[in-house]
Amino acid sequence: MSSPFHSPDSPTIQNLQAAFAGESMAHIKYRYFARLCREMGDEATAKAFEATSDQEVMHAFGHLDLLFPKSQMSPAKALQFAIDGETHEYTEMYPKFYDAAVTEAQAASEPFKAVLEKAGKRFAALAKVELRHAAHYQTALDTIKA
Ligand SMILES: [Fe+2]
Ligand SMILES: [Fe+2]
Repeated sequence: MSSPFHSPDSPTIQNLQAAFAGESMAHIKYRYFARLCREMGDEATAKAFEATSDQEVMHAFGHLDLLFPKSQMSPAKALQFAIDGETHEYTEMYPKFYDAAVTEAQAASEPFKAVLEKAGKRFAALAKVELRHAAHYQTALDTIKA
């Protein structure tokens, strides 16, 4: 996810984007680990993951603060950036991922084949959801502009 406010050639901007991606993934991964630990009956470990997960959000916000400076943002710009991201996901990313999963599944054997088929189904389903996200944001943007 690139920042529209800075040169993509800047190594530090690239590092901020990579750091933002890493912190965001850590946040979600720790929430997922917390859920697993809770389901396995380990409430203390679940809580430890949740506490760290909350901090990763703040780390990611710190990077976003430089990538999308508040002084240059507006609700309309935020909606447009979100529409661009969702549109990329449902028009490019998920269709490509779906095709690749189907192709890979054809040449695979069980039990990995089942993983690939599940991934393909998930990619196809999420493409439809991201389309709805983009449309929802577009409605909000149209309302702001009206
Ligand atoms: Fe962090
Ligand atoms: Fe989405």
